[in-house]
Amino acid sequence: MRYLTFALAKGRLAKQTLALLEQIGITCEEMKDPDTRKLIFVNEEQKLKFFLSKATDVPTYVEYGAADIGVVGKDTLLEEGRNLYEVLDLGFGKCRMCVCGPASARELLKKNEIIRVASKYPVIAKDYFNHQKNQTVEIIKLNGSVELAPIVGLSEVIVDIVETGGTLKENGLEVLEEICPLSARMVVNQVSLKMENARIRKLLADLNHLINSEKN
Ligand code: PRP
Repeated sequence: MRYLTFALAKGRLAKQTLALLEQIGITCEEMKDPDTRKLIFVNEEQKLKFFLSKATDVPTYVEYGAADIGVVGKDTLLEEGRNLYEVLDLGFGKCRMCVCGPASARELLKKNEIIRVASKYPVIAKDYFNHQKNQTVEIIKLNGSVELAPIVGLSEVIVDIVETGGTLKENGLEVLEEICPLSARMVVNQVSLKMENARIRKLLADLNHLINSEKN
């Protein structure tokens, strides 16, 4: 039996994924050592490997088959646009992709004006404004702390993730439009799904069962 390899997005999503997998009997003791400097973790008995990567790289590892399975946010999947199968909504990491800004920017979104939009997600922002709203905008790519942009006059609005809304509130900004809901998704390499069909189907069935039982 060959190893099934999982690519997990470093941080909270990886921790929640491992907790979920543990409930269906998939474990990786090695990974629990907080002092470890290892990058790849093996469960010899179950023939599984796990590694952590930057969230934005998870779809790349899965598309190229370096990982069979990945867990990453829907935001990253939409932004990266990789060829892979999205097979399961894991139901955690829930948040929303939104257009945000000061209340005064609300009018600019109605008037079809050319405005500047700052975002860590230029693909999602461009798609929303050009294809869903038919509004021509200038997209400015940023790498973090995007809420700064409208405050310091870099852009009129931002496209960003809103979870609790706390960051917006503390900075005098608000949700102006909602683009889509987001959550953690499981993705599978297209060839792996064929070659390891039985093992992957079993994993998905177990996870589905668990997620549905938690909902009820
Ligand atoms: C994310 C997002 C918002 C914030 C939203 O940023 O970009 O800034 O969280 O969360 P809230 O609605 O609960 O306040 P992250 O912490 O990932 O860092 P970043 O600003 O560097 O992107």
